[in-house]
Amino acid sequence: MSRNILVTGGAGYIGSHTCKALHSAGYIPVTFDNLVSGHKWAVQWGPLVRADLKDRDALGLCFEQFKPEGVIHFAAFAYVGESVTDPAKYYANNVANTIGLLEAMRTYGCRRIVFSSTCAVYGIPKVLPLTESHPSAPINPYGHSKCFIEQILTDYGTAYGLRHVALRYFNAAGADPDGDLGEDHDPETHLIPLALRACRHGTRPLTVFGTDWDTPDGTCIRDYIHVTDLAAAHLLAMGYLETNKDGRFNLGNGNGYSVLDIINAIREVTGQEIRWQAGSRRAGDPSRLVADAGLAKRELGWSPCYPDMTDIICHAWQWMAKHEGFLA
Ligand SMILES: NC(=O)c1ccc[n+]([C@@H]2O[C@H](COP(=O)([O-])OP(=O)(O)OC[C@H]3O[C@@H](n4cnc5c(N)ncnc54)[C@H](O)[C@@H]3O)[C@@H](O)[C@H]2O)c1
Repeated sequence: MSRNILVTGGAGYIGSHTCKALHSAGYIPVTFDNLVSGHKWAVQWGPLVRADLKDRDALGLCFEQFKPEGVIHFAAFAYVGESVTDPAKYYANNVANTIGLLEAMRTYGCRRIVFSSTCAVYGIPKVLPLTESHPSAPINPYGHSKCFIEQILTDYGTAYGLRHVALRYFNAAGADPDGDLGEDHDPETHLIPLALRACRHGTRPLTVFGTDWDTPDGTCIRDYIHVTDLAAAHLLAMGYLETNKDGRFNLGNGNGYSVLDIINAIREVTGQEIRWQAGSRRAGDPSRLVADAGLAKRELGWSPCYPDMTDIICHAWQWMAKHEGFLA
């Protein structure tokens, strides 16, 4: 049997870390990526098919050539603000292109898919920590696009026997502990790399979006999960689909950190000051998002190796030092 796994978006942040984990477990990750936000240097663990998901011929050729036994689907646009101003772009790439991928899977008899979903499917939490039974009520087109795909996957399961796991990530953070890979988005919107850049360059202060939230220090609270722990969950999810039809799992550490907690933790790790300024709240930002990932632990046997915020920040800082060529 083929050990190939098709990884859409395998040149991106979470995708590339997952390709490394797949390679370590004996699979061949076949990255399908148009490099719109991913990087060629991040594809180190298997072949790269450089193509756009909307190119059905390229997708078909890829299935024909590599005969993957499963798909891990990361490729998407993921800027919440942009999804509000340009929803067409998000529904075309995240929803329509996913349907194209699922059709190719049907055509070539590939029956297992692990899908990158998000805590944005929950919208504003009614209770915390969030479990998978919390109602889905997204508040932006990005969250809706992920919710639609979850439904489409369920419907494809009922009608065509497709098996799927939707992994609802909270905030992905950190970098490969060996320093091979890390986060390099442009533009970067994630707090930890932005704060590390503010530390490193010191030219522009970090903007904190809202200091008047109903939280102990007034800043938003989020649940950060190490990217290597996310990667491991994808392998477990692929294995889970050998005997199960579908699943939806939160992936987070269950610990809430405020923006100021993160800034303080970064000060401690780097020994450097971070200049920050208060900005206004961003529309649609929930004040707190914290996961209950008990289901993933029970059903997948998932157990994060790097729950400690110091490790997450250390790895991200070491990666930035290596990538930008300075001494951490
Ligand atoms: N980073 C997070 O904290 C986070 C949280 C929740 C969910 N997610 C989801 O996880 C997935 C990966 O996130 P990431 O941070 O690694 O993003 P990323 O931008 O680093 O990776 C996405 C990859 O998909 C590729 N891609 C996009 N559209 C494509 C297309 N039409 N054809 C081929 N390739 C295409 C990009 O070039 C990129 O390499 C996304 O689906 C995102 O919505 C991320």
